[in-house]
Amino acid sequence: MVKLKSIYLCTNCQADYTQWVGQCTQCGLWNSVKEVPGIQAGTAGRSDDVGGQRAQPLTLKKIELDDYPRIKTGFAELDRVLGGGFVMGSSIVLGGQPGAGKSTLLLQVLCKLSGKYSTLYVSGEESPRQIAMRANRLGVNGGMQILAETSVFNVIAQAREQGPDMLVIDSIQVMYDDEVNSSPGSLSQVRESAAVLVRYAKQHNIVLIMVGHVTKEGSLAGPKVLEHMIDCFMMLEGDATSRYRTLRGQKNRFGATNELGIFAMTEMGLKEVVNPSAIFLSRHEGAVSGNLVMVIWEGTRPLMVELQALVDSSPFTNPRRVVVGIDHNRLAMLLAVLHRHGGIMVADQDVFINVAGGVKVTETSADLTVLLAVASSLKNQIIAEDCLAFGEVGLSGEVRPVANGQERLREASKHGFKKAIIPYANRPKKGELAMQIVAVRNLSEALSAMDELSVES
Ligand code: TYD
Ligand code: MG
Repeated sequence: MVKLKSIYLCTNCQADYTQWVGQCTQCGLWNSVKEVPGIQAGTAGRSDDVGGQRAQPLTLKKIELDDYPRIKTGFAELDRVLGGGFVMGSSIVLGGQPGAGKSTLLLQVLCKLSGKYSTLYVSGEESPRQIAMRANRLGVNGGMQILAETSVFNVIAQAREQGPDMLVIDSIQVMYDDEVNSSPGSLSQVRESAAVLVRYAKQHNIVLIMVGHVTKEGSLAGPKVLEHMIDCFMMLEGDATSRYRTLRGQKNRFGATNELGIFAMTEMGLKEVVNPSAIFLSRHEGAVSGNLVMVIWEGTRPLMVELQALVDSSPFTNPRRVVVGIDHNRLAMLLAVLHRHGGIMVADQDVFINVAGGVKVTETSADLTVLLAVASSLKNQIIAEDCLAFGEVGLSGEVRPVANGQERLREASKHGFKKAIIPYANRPKKGELAMQIVAVRNLSEALSAMDELSVES
């Protein structure tokens, strides 16, 4: 065992020194520096000791590769995002705006698992009574332990006593660490509290799930600083006013990050959506100009969503570009392509784009759909209801292929679509699908295909 040297700590601001000084250079206080024998700098004052053993290097090829055992959560959609279920010893952050349903989801999951595993739900926001009332209303129950606590050391002490397999912290922003000299909710409090909890989870091989609130703009106030220390970071998105919620993995050390889980918020809590394509296709009577369906690829499956465009002459010198569900800059680029290579100008028009159902499209396969929907709205030309389009559009107006073209078409065919405008390189073999396929090489071919597939306006 290596003998550790003493260090000198300021009792006021915890700054550490290798030798005694009369005045702390950090906080300026006199006579505040005291000797602390035999502990390492940086871990001073910590009660959650990390084992003193030194790690040994291993040869890569000799490391045993047994798969991580997974704990199924009871929600197939959540398992999909996690990469198959919870992994013991992993730390997870569940982010989302207030009202997204984070507490509801975790309550449902923990109640389901509490029969098989020992679970502890630490709530710093709601009282045990409130949680019990909600669980009762949701019809979930069981031996889940609830602790109302905001001091991270009390949480650790309680966890040591009880030894849970699963620990939920709701939320990390209300936790505080006595040894950090700033108010709860501040960045350093969030970071230090999370570090203590993550270390505990690793040491005791338990699943740690921390709730992190996100600001309205979508940035993670606090949890962003945690990203490097956790294994998995998921976001639960969706308006409190809309019924659907999407769960997207943003970082996952135990699986892919592009998976999307889809839930519906009901009066009985969150329910998973079994056939997502069916719900994102809006069911209005008859076709309308500016509406077009696309097939996006989410992780390992296709998802059909409806895109709506409204183009209207603008009363402003700077016409508005309002988008919901797609990237603002991407739209600006596409409108420039539409002008240069499609001969359609919208410089004096307001352009509104909406992706139905609150889905956020991050894929370039929506390019062609956006352009055709804009053109359709501008010309007041109705595209047939059973027609869809997808494809990436380049700056020179070329239509590029997208991944998984065949699977996208098959999904569309399954939902009764009969016509498709797709990139030339994605065209299927003859007779493979019972659909009318128009494979296009560039934007002008796509615009003429649209004219062909339009019904009378
Ligand atoms: P909540 O889980 O408290 O959100 P978060 O923890 O992310 O802030 O859920 C918030 C919303 O969900 C709330 O506005 C009410 C709604 N809700 C339902 O519609 N049905 C339900 O069964 C529950 C529990 C909540
Ligand atoms: Mg909550």
